[in-house]
Amino acid sequence: MSKYLVTGGAGFIGCNLARYILDKGHDVVVLDNFATGKRENLTEIADKIELVEGDIRDRDAVERAIEGCTAIFHEAALGSVPRSMEDPVTSHDVNVNGTVMVLETARAAGIKRVVFAASSSAYGERAESPKHEAMAPMPISPYAANKVSCEAYMQAYASGYGMETVCLRYFNVFGPHQDPEGAYAAVIPAFVSRLLAGQSPVVFGDGEQSRDFCYIENVCNANWLAAHAPAETCSGKVMNVACNAKTSLNQILGQLQELLGSDVKAIYEDERAGDVKHSLADVALAKEAIGYEPVIFFEEGLQKSIDWYRENLG
Ligand SMILES: NC(=O)c1ccc[n+]([C@@H]2O[C@H](COP(=O)([O-])OP(=O)(O)OC[C@H]3O[C@@H](n4cnc5c(N)ncnc54)[C@H](O)[C@@H]3O)[C@@H](O)[C@H]2O)c1
Repeated sequence: MSKYLVTGGAGFIGCNLARYILDKGHDVVVLDNFATGKRENLTEIADKIELVEGDIRDRDAVERAIEGCTAIFHEAALGSVPRSMEDPVTSHDVNVNGTVMVLETARAAGIKRVVFAASSSAYGERAESPKHEAMAPMPISPYAANKVSCEAYMQAYASGYGMETVCLRYFNVFGPHQDPEGAYAAVIPAFVSRLLAGQSPVVFGDGEQSRDFCYIENVCNANWLAAHAPAETCSGKVMNVACNAKTSLNQILGQLQELLGSDVKAIYEDERAGDVKHSLADVALAKEAIGYEPVIFFEEGLQKSIDWYRENLG
């Protein structure tokens, strides 16, 4: 049995990953300051995990959380492109300085492997599709710039200090525990919660923008593989994690209306600065480097998510 640290373990991806690791029979430490994460996300597993309530920028908190861990899944960050457009300084401080603190504390503690939650936003408006890792990053938001900087640090710690670091560029992840509330909510939970409440979902732009939506279970698998694949094949690398399938927001709306039996129409508003128009992933490198392949595709994931929201919303 090993012990793993999940930073940001009270958030959407982190709390699913914590459950996934527990299900594999290992111990989990969660480090979170509840900036955007929720205590409810940990309720069911509260007696099975070790919770360190603290900030990834605080060396003492990271040191306490890291003790005895085999590897780190670094999920903590302030997500959302619009949030970073409004407050780039705070986004940089948490996302970049926090990541350097996690890396540096891991190095001092002798922890070799760190898996990092990178982002497809790194590709920005690059026209080529699908997006592959040989394309140079082109951040068009502070959030994307933060994530690309972190990838550079991850690679520097691999080359400079011999640590084993792996960056997983998630595309649009969705599934249970993703927060439907607030201005920075992701599109699927926001649409589902509005439709379940009989209210119109809000679409920014014409709804024809498309994304490579990736169900959470694929992301948990990818993290696990990235933590255990031989260093020779994956260390210092950056790779896409998605499904290589695109869906437009209008398509999601259509499917949700059908699955929920709703005829509530969407409201269309101006598109948001910093948002990219289309995003589709090539996932060949993740297959080669860590053996990743998506196992749950959009429709099945959407049905599972709806089931969860029906049971857990309000
Ligand atoms: N959800 C997606 O589609 C997606 C896509 C690409 C990348 N990512 C990245 O994946 C990671 C997880 O995203 P998520 O969707 O679960 O977001 P989330 O907001 O649900 O989770 C982030 C967690 O980090 C915690 N956190 C924030 N600042 C912290 C700090 N200073 N110290 C300690 N904890 C802190 C939050 O409280 C929260 O629990 C993030 O790094 C995000 O940038 C997510």
